[in-house]
This record gives sequence, structure tokens and C-alpha cells, in this order.
Amino acid sequence: MTISLSRILLVGVLFLPSITLLNDSAPFNDDPWDLDGPCQKYVEKLAVFQSEMVACATNWSIPPKVCTNCYDNYIKFKQYEYETKHLDNVFSLDNRTCSQVIYDNYLLSYSSDISTALTTKIWEKSRCDSCITINWDLPHNKSEKEFTERTLVFQNRLYEWRNCVVNYTSGGLLVDDLNDLQNGSKICNECKTQFEELYGYYWKIYTTPDVDFCVDVETTMNDTIHLWDDVWKCAEKQDRNRDLAGIMITFATLVLLTALFYAASYIQGGGQTRNLIRYSRLQEDPRGQRSRLLSSGMSDADLFHRAATMPNVPIHQSR
Ligand SMILES: *[C@@H]1O[C@H](CO)[C@@H](O)[C@H](O)[C@H]1NC(C)=O
Ligand SMILES: *[C@@H]1O[C@H](CO)[C@@H](O)[C@H](O)[C@H]1NC(C)=O
Ligand SMILES: *[C@@H]1O[C@H](CO)[C@@H](O)[C@H](O)[C@H]1NC(C)=O
Ligand SMILES: *[C@@H]1O[C@H](CO)[C@@H](O)[C@H](O)[C@H]1NC(C)=O
Ligand SMILES: *[C@@H]1O[C@H](CO)[C@@H](O)[C@H](O)[C@H]1NC(C)=O
Ligand SMILES: *[C@@H]1O[C@H](CO)[C@@H](O)[C@H](O)[C@H]1NC(C)=O
Repeated sequence: MTISLSRILLVGVLFLPSITLLNDSAPFNDDPWDLDGPCQKYVEKLAVFQSEMVACATNWSIPPKVCTNCYDNYIKFKQYEYETKHLDNVFSLDNRTCSQVIYDNYLLSYSSDISTALTTKIWEKSRCDSCITINWDLPHNKSEKEFTERTLVFQNRLYEWRNCVVNYTSGGLLVDDLNDLQNGSKICNECKTQFEELYGYYWKIYTTPDVDFCVDVETTMNDTIHLWDDVWKCAEKQDRNRDLAGIMITFATLVLLTALFYAASYIQGGGQTRNLIRYSRLQEDPRGQRSRLLSSGMSDADLFHRAATMPNVPIHQSR
């Protein structure tokens, strides 16, 4: 009698925490009645890896640069996802494996949906494979990452350009130097080569079929161009040079054509007076055109040049 009474008491003490829990939280969380209790700790751990990946992705979302910043979180998350899919020796109370419980047992599997979103909406949509190769070895927990060659080359060129900019601002990109930066002409001239090499490399890869950059690189290039063109106004300054070059070329072509025209007509016509008068009128025309070009400041040829060499960053449509 006493024994069973103390047993009842003991049971009461054991269940007391659950009972109090029952009072102030939802009734379905209680351990002893939790059919999937043995699996709970695995989803909790998965939640941690998922949330770390989410935090990293959101942190690096403006501009989106998940591939080069979150690969570590991504590998850890995929590793643990793999483990939750192979929980074949851990069972729920009704003898289902925890993998079945987590992925198949219920109408909804939040953990699975979130994993899918992280994989397809974030990692794959960023085309991370184009920048970083992960040699998956999930069974041995030994996955290795490696940046692709083109990503490293791009990065080197980017750093060369940035170093140059830093060199030509008095001591780094601090807020104090903002004036230096806004007064971009020096940077534009000194670092033009580096910028063109960077852009040239990007463009080369971009136009190569079947070779791609991930979104990280595309957005970096995009922002770099906006900085260069819109903030430091380097494009305008370059354009002025191109205007001048364009005018010189146009003028030289006109002179050459006129000369050829003269030579040809001289050979053909043997110098008839009527023609000569017409030709001498023509001779004045190029000069007239030249001054018009000079005053307009921008010719069609230059507009074309600008469009051809400094397009908005071509960006792949998200697939
Ligand atoms: C978040 O992003 C900033 C730069 O944008 C970086 O300095 C910081 O380390 C990042 N934090 C985490 C947790 O990744
Ligand atoms: C679960 O399996 C074990 C052995 O594999 C068995 O002893 C136990 O009775 C089973 N329980 C249920 C509820 O099927
Ligand atoms: C996988 O390896 C990492 C370190 O490389 C370790 O921290 C982690 O605990 C390992 N995971 C498992 C399930 O063994
Ligand atoms: C930056 O300046 C240092 C020293 O003046 C020079 O050695 C280096 O080559 C410069 N780097 C660039 C990218 O101009
Ligand atoms: C910009 O730089 C040039 C030469 O480097 C200098 O003459 C000019 O005063 C500067 N303008 C401003 C606003 O700092
Ligand atoms: C590049 O910048 C433009 C203008 O800010 C923007 O419309 C475009 O979506 C950007 N592309 C990427 C990949 O960020």
C-alpha cells in the first residue's frame, strides 16, 4: 500500500513539470506523449544549421553574395540535412525511422520546405556552381570547396582596381576621403586601365557560351560600374576623350575621302574646269562638317561607341 502510494507520488513528481508545461503552452508539446520524441533533437539541430544559413544569406543580400560568403554555412547545412535523411537507426515510438518522421510522416514538413528553399531559391538561383565547386562527400563529412579559376581571376582584377583606387585617395576609403572619391577625375585617369581589364575580363566570360559567373560576381561588377560611372563620373570623362578621338577619326576619314575623290577625278577627267569648280565647293564641305561636329560635342558615331563599350551590365535572367 505504502509502496504503491509512494510510486504514485513519484510518478506525480516526475510528471509535474510536464503538467505545468501543459498549462501554459500548447498541449501537443509534451514529451512523454510525444510520438516523435526521440527524433526531436535532430530537427532542433537541423533548425540551427538552417537558421545560420538563413542569417548568412539575408546578411549578404544587398548585394546578393551568398556563394562567396555563405559556402561554409551551406556545406554545414547540407551535411546535417544529409544526416537527418539517414537517421535509419533512430525510431519514433511507433517504430518509424526518424528520417521517415521528419520527411514523410506529415502533410507538411517545414524543415524539408525550408531546406528546399535554401537549396533551390538561394544557392542554385545564385548559380553558385559557377563560382565555387563543392566536392560533396556527405557520407564521410568531408566535403571540400574550391573556387573556380575564373572567379579567382575576376577577384584578382577587382583587387588590383581597388588597390589602385585606394592608392590614389589619400589613405584608404574612409569617410574623410569621400571628397577625394567624389572628385573622381584622378581615380578615373589613374585606374582606367585596371577598370578596363576588370570589365574586359568580365565581358569575355559573359560572352563565352556555357561559361557563367555566379550572381555574386555579376552584382559586384554591376555595383562597380555604378560606382565608376554614376558616383565618380568616370564614364563621362572617358566619353569626352572618346568624343575627341571619334571626331579626329571622322575628320581624317573625310580628308582621305576628299583626297581620293580628287585623285580619282584627276586621273579620269583630266581636269575639266566645270568639275574643278564643283570639287572646290566640295572641298569646303568637310570643313563645315568638321566645325559642326566639334560644336555638337557628340556625334552619332560616339553615341554608338558609348553604347557598344559601356553597356549596362549584362545580367542573366534568373532561371
Ligand atoms: C554581415 O555582412 C557584413 C558585411 O556586409 C560583414 O561584415 C559581417 O561579417 C556579416 N556577418 C555575418 C554573420 O556574416
Ligand atoms: C518496435 O520494434 C521493436 C524491435 O525492433 C519491438 O520490440 C517493438 O515491439 C516495436 N514496437 C512497436 C510499437 O511496433
Ligand atoms: C563533421 O565535421 C565537422 C568538422 O569537420 C564537425 O564539426 C562535425 O561535428 C562533423 N559532423 C558529424 C555528424 O560528425
Ligand atoms: C600603390 O602604391 C604603391 C606605392 O606607391 C605601389 O608600389 C603600388 O604598385 C601601387 N599599386 C597600384 C595598384 O597602383
Ligand atoms: C579635384 O581634384 C583636382 C586635381 O586633382 C583639383 O584641382 C580640384 O580642386 C579638386 N576638386 C575638389 C572639389 O576637390
Ligand atoms: C544592376 O543594376 C541595375 C540598376 O541599378 C539593376 O536594375 C539591375 O537589376 C542590377 N543587376 C543585378 C544583377 O544586380
